[in-house]
Parts: sequence; structure tokens; C-alpha cells
Amino acid sequence: MLKIKIGVLVSGGGTNLQALIDAEKSNLIESGEIALVISDNSQAYALKRAEANGIPYVVVNEQGLDNRAFEEKVLDLINQNEIDLVVLAGFMKILSADFTEKLAGRIINIHPSLIPSFCGKGYYGLKVHEAALKYGVKITGATVHYVNEIPDGGQIILQKAVEVLEDDGPLTLQKRVMEQAEWVILPQAVELVSRKIQREKGEK
Ligand code: GRF
Repeated sequence: MLKIKIGVLVSGGGTNLQALIDAEKSNLIESGEIALVISDNSQAYALKRAEANGIPYVVVNEQGLDNRAFEEKVLDLINQNEIDLVVLAGFMKILSADFTEKLAGRIINIHPSLIPSFCGKGYYGLKVHEAALKYGVKITGATVHYVNEIPDGGQIILQKAVEVLEDDGPLTLQKRVMEQAEWVILPQAVELVSRKIQREKGEK
């Protein structure tokens, strides 16, 4: 069957994008191919990763664009490039209900905690790990979930737990959660959802 086309939205370092690129190369992701990377940040190192792997990329700079105009441009790119699955990989903007409804079932996100803990408005990047350490949880991890209008609120697809160590600080915990959880379950989830979309497309 034809591989589905995956679009990855990024804002920063792109280590989750790199995990997807590596998973496609090792055929862990075999039902889809990364066809486009879109960033809201022209300085995102993720763009260098796309370039180094010959993946087309576009910067949709929010400077001067209001949220609606930004989302319209992104949706145009998704439609023009016939993207079947959108993956938010270290993407930092909150997307509107209007945008996520248009992509229902075709947009997923990686969040660096075990949802429903430490998620929702204001919980992103290092803040998530600072909250986990402040609370004193012994286990944290990462979650891949469908995206809906509620920040980090969509149906959970995969989760992976990671131990919090006595001497952990936010940075050491973030690194372990990325290495042991995010970079493992995001490729697995992308293959699962790609296969589902591929089947649905095949049935049409
Ligand atoms: C990661 O902690 C990810 O979970 C969060 O953003 C951070 C950076 O991701 N959403 P990346 O290195 O840009 O993929």
C-alpha cells in the first residue's frame, strides 16, 4: 500500500523529529514517510535536521501574523502537500479548536509527562519537569495523544514511564524522559496511527 504522508510541526531543537527520521530510516516507521517539516521559528535547529535529511521544510513565521492567519497558512501547506498525518514534535504553539477540528484523528502530540499529570495550559518544556520534581513524584514519563481543542486533552495513544532519581534536576529529568520515553513512543505511535490512516484510505 502507498505510504501516507506525514507533516511534522516543530519549534525548537527537533530531537523528536530526529527520532522520527531515524525510525523511518530503520523501517520502524514503514507505513508513512515524513514529507514536510513546518516550523514557527526560523532559528529552530529542527530545520537543520530536516535539511540534512533532504526533507522539505517551511517556516511560517508568526511575526506579523495573528494566530488565525498563522493557522490558515499551515492548513494551506497541509492541504497543498496532501499531508495525511500531522505530528506536533516539540511544537510550542497552542492551536485553536477550529484548526484541530479540521484535522481530527489526523493530528498527534508528544507531551513530556504521564497525562493527566502535569499537563494543560502552562505545562510545556522544562516547566513540566520542574512541576514533577516539585510535587515529588517517583515516576514520570511521556505521552503521545491525539490533539483536540483542550491543551494535552485528546485521547491517549501511548505512554512510557521513567523513574525520577533522587538527585534529578529539571534538566537531567528532561534528558532522561526524552531519551527513554519520548524518542521511543513517538515513532511507535506515528507507525500505529499511520497504519490506521493507511487502512482507512485503502478502504475508501
Ligand atoms: C521536548 O521535551 C518535548 O517533549 C517538548 O519540547 C521539548 C523539545 O522537543 N514538547 P524537541 O527536541 O524540539 O523535539
